[in-house]
Amino acid sequence: MLTENDKNLIKELGRFPIDYWDFKEEETKEYTHGIHNYPAVMVAPISRNIIKLMKNYTTINSLLDPFSGSGTVLVEGMLANIPNIAGNDINPLALFISQAKTKILDLKELNKEIENLKGRLNNKEKLYRKNIENIDNDLKKQYNLNFTSKDNWGSNAYEYLQKYCNENKINLNIPNFKNIGYWFKPKVIISLSIIKEEVLKIKNLDIRNYILVSFSESIRLVSNRRNGEFKLFRMQSEKVEQFSPNVFYEFFKIVDRNKEKMQEFIDKVGDNKSTVKIFSDNACELNNVPNNEYDLIITSPPYGDSRTTVAYGEYSRLSLQWLNLYELTDKEILRVDKTLMGGAKFNKGFEMNLKSETLKKSLDVIKELDLKRAGDVYSFYKDLDSAIEKISLKTKKGGYQFWVVGNRTVKNELLKTDEIISELAEQYNLETIYTINRNIPNKVMPSLNSPTNEIGKKVTTMTMEHIVILKKV
Ligand SMILES: C[S@@+](CC[C@H](N)C(=O)[O-])C[C@H]1O[C@@H](n2cnc3c(N)ncnc32)[C@H](O)[C@@H]1O
Repeated sequence: MLTENDKNLIKELGRFPIDYWDFKEEETKEYTHGIHNYPAVMVAPISRNIIKLMKNYTTINSLLDPFSGSGTVLVEGMLANIPNIAGNDINPLALFISQAKTKILDLKELNKEIENLKGRLNNKEKLYRKNIENIDNDLKKQYNLNFTSKDNWGSNAYEYLQKYCNENKINLNIPNFKNIGYWFKPKVIISLSIIKEEVLKIKNLDIRNYILVSFSESIRLVSNRRNGEFKLFRMQSEKVEQFSPNVFYEFFKIVDRNKEKMQEFIDKVGDNKSTVKIFSDNACELNNVPNNEYDLIITSPPYGDSRTTVAYGEYSRLSLQWLNLYELTDKEILRVDKTLMGGAKFNKGFEMNLKSETLKKSLDVIKELDLKRAGDVYSFYKDLDSAIEKISLKTKKGGYQFWVVGNRTVKNELLKTDEIISELAEQYNLETIYTINRNIPNKVMPSLNSPTNEIGKKVTTMTMEHIVILKKV
């Protein structure tokens, strides 16, 4: 049953101009929002405006984002001075970035450490300048290497570099992970290893991690991966041959930018007293997140198909391999995408027992055309259903949930995730209040993909997003 308060909220939502939620011109990289890229980030003004709006309708002492990714909602919670803020994600890189984004640092200390780091790295760069300048050519000549090949250099880079370091009396910790040579040229590996070694000497952990986020961001720019894509593809061979980034320069450009971002953040939040907890649970479980705790949930779950759209694990892989976070093994890093929503496979069919007529109709159509694809779709919504159930448990009675979702097309069948969420939510004491439609001019998403998986056949996807508003009754 809708209360008077809910009815007023619905009235106000209905009065917003049609483009109110589009945020075409808005700056989205301000404060610590801008310290590291991440796929399918929810633009900051969405959560900012939701919080601002909802403060007029309810008391917000606690905020949860169960799919917090790089932490946009958490930063906005701090800017709005919400006392108890929590995030959760399953991707270790996402956790690392959001921890760094939400930790207020002592600026003087940060400046001092950066200046010291610059000094140390300047010395190292001078010491190894000749090696850095010549290593690509030297190795190429000595072993007749092809830096674009998966064999030899591609898979044995570690051994070649160990040998090179021994012969040249260079004492360096070179990482040894799968295909490192396929993704990085010798000069780049040597330079990144020097930088990492010096960053790890910073004793203040929060500052060290903040600078490691800059390190992670620079890895993307100096690797052989194709730019401007979330999936992990390598540049064409000719481009790899010519590619010769100045790793130290790229790294410090980001360090300096991120120092400014922290300054902006501190200027804005002042002596913020929010506590921010970040959990690393599967959103289908949320075992460590307290029950009946949160007044407001703002979240954007994944869209459901990491094969044709966004692969969070692939995006994060090279950073995770370099950072060596949480002692993850190579195997665990390569498996991140399989642990995300929809990772389970139902290749041989499935029994549809989810409580959504809209989903059932769509699955019936897709099943006729492609049983395997229907299984992928089912796997995603099965996880989404579990996540809705668990998130409902975490929400206080009378609390509100805002789900930012996009609708996908599979085999030309439109999957109406907004309607499906509303239908599934009913079983878990969640009442749909309203659904906002918004255009997504800012979202960094591939705008085209092939829903039939036929090369060359492309249709526009995800140009509209929906914000489904639920209330725990
Ligand atoms: C659309 S992104 C969220 C982006 C976030 N709003 C931001 O601003 O960066 C979806 C997130 O869900 C996470 N995810 C996917 N499956 C998950 C699961 N089963 N449990 C927890 N997190 C999951 C992904 O790692 C990804 O970070």
